[in-house]
Amino acid sequence: MSSGNKIIDESKQGEALLIENSKAGSGKKLFLESYGCQMNFSDSEIVASILMDKGYTTTQNYEEADIIFVNTCAIRDNAEQKVRNRLNDFKRVKKKNKKLLVGVLGCMAERLKSQFLEQEKLVDIVVGPDSYRDLPSLIEEAEDGRKAINVILSKEETYADLTPVRLGSNEVTAFISITRGCDNMCSFCVVPFTRGRERSRDPESIVKEAKEAFESGYREVTLLGQNVDSYIWAGGGLKKEVLTEEQKLNSVNFAQLLELVANVNPELRVRFSTSHPKDLTDEVIHMIAKHENICKHIHLPVQSGNSRILEMMNRGYTREWYLERIASIKRIIPECGISMDIITGFCSGTEEEHKDTLSLMEAVKYDFGYMFMYSERPKTLAERKYKDDVPEETKRRRIQEIVDVQRLHSSIRTTDAVGKMHKVLIEGLSKKSNEMLMGRNSQNAVIVFPKGEYKKGEYVNVFVDDCTSSTLIGKVIGEGMKQDSMK
Ligand code: 5AD
Ligand code: SF4
Repeated sequence: MSSGNKIIDESKQGEALLIENSKAGSGKKLFLESYGCQMNFSDSEIVASILMDKGYTTTQNYEEADIIFVNTCAIRDNAEQKVRNRLNDFKRVKKKNKKLLVGVLGCMAERLKSQFLEQEKLVDIVVGPDSYRDLPSLIEEAEDGRKAINVILSKEETYADLTPVRLGSNEVTAFISITRGCDNMCSFCVVPFTRGRERSRDPESIVKEAKEAFESGYREVTLLGQNVDSYIWAGGGLKKEVLTEEQKLNSVNFAQLLELVANVNPELRVRFSTSHPKDLTDEVIHMIAKHENICKHIHLPVQSGNSRILEMMNRGYTREWYLERIASIKRIIPECGISMDIITGFCSGTEEEHKDTLSLMEAVKYDFGYMFMYSERPKTLAERKYKDDVPEETKRRRIQEIVDVQRLHSSIRTTDAVGKMHKVLIEGLSKKSNEMLMGRNSQNAVIVFPKGEYKKGEYVNVFVDDCTSSTLIGKVIGEGMKQDSMK
């Protein structure tokens, strides 16, 4: 089930981006396409900012581009296959247009490094996630006929000073990166290898970006990181280097950062993704409860409901610990929306252990979730230590069972929301009808309602009186009410 997927928005996969550029000068046309998680889409906005500064314009037709960049994902094998197919399409265009340059950016570039240039000869430029500042000179190298590559990972780079060019945006919701990299080393995950060590970004630059977004009309920001709860700022550098008690005392943690961003303006909604069960503190949950404009939704990937598998996954928590965190959320914020990621078919997982995942789902009753079959990734701890021994057909059956349970829980959640008032931030027209608007409530559920005179970026009170399996349908009852008088 990937509808409403915030991590990998299927409707945006491979979307080419069009930007107005007031600095257009060189006349060179860029075709920039992104795959994978929200962090990648956010990185593409940094890439766009760097290249727009050099006078590039964008095109949505790759056949007329001077340069094609694909921002790639390596999280599962099928994500990589999609990109390979795309690169083969571009290779065909290169045959017609000898001057065309093709570059891979992001996680696949970092994982495969020079393999793209030397063995596969698919592309001219390979750039890892920490090297985007080097893009203009890499392009020059490639224009001179040299193969250009920079896959150096950094301990400091957070692109804090760059103002992203908001791409493919609805002009209401924006994404702001707050950490880069990941130190968790979950055994199945390639991210620590492709995005490097964990660094937090200066809170001042985060607040500044949120303020600027608000001033240009945005009404929601989502703070992004692989593990937002481990955000810590004590002057820069690697997370693990924050050592002394004094440094800790003068630092800013995630709960404090949430408050700083929430205080930008009560009319600015704040979301965040992704939380990690081992690091999600009560302090953070209380902070969400304290501010009306911090959305009541926590995406808390569980991956498995069985403690032995969690240990093998190196997740740093047990089933009991996870359920205790859920209990804490439900105690402090009873109305909180909760969503998850689950991986099924991980190495050596038995039928009993699979049932533990199903029973954990029963205990939590998630609003929605993203469910994946385990895909072995080269160089990860699991690839080195364990055998990918759950047969494909077992993985398929198990994921189907998990998806079926989630479908049921999602529909329970949807039905629960009918007959109630919801405060909705309008994001734009509904996908299905030009007569309807769509937005989300605090819990992240999609709500559609007749357009009337309302505009995107406005808050309205919607009474929900109907639903489909994943969408709430209603009518506006009130508007422009103060945030704190509405739930
Ligand atoms: N196989 C399947 N799913 C994976 N994820 C991460 N690595 C893998 C893998 N090797 C999933 C996890 C993570 C989400 C972003 O992707 O559930 O939370
Ligand atoms: Fe991967 Fe685990 Fe880090 Fe998430 S927390 S990016 S799953 S290593």
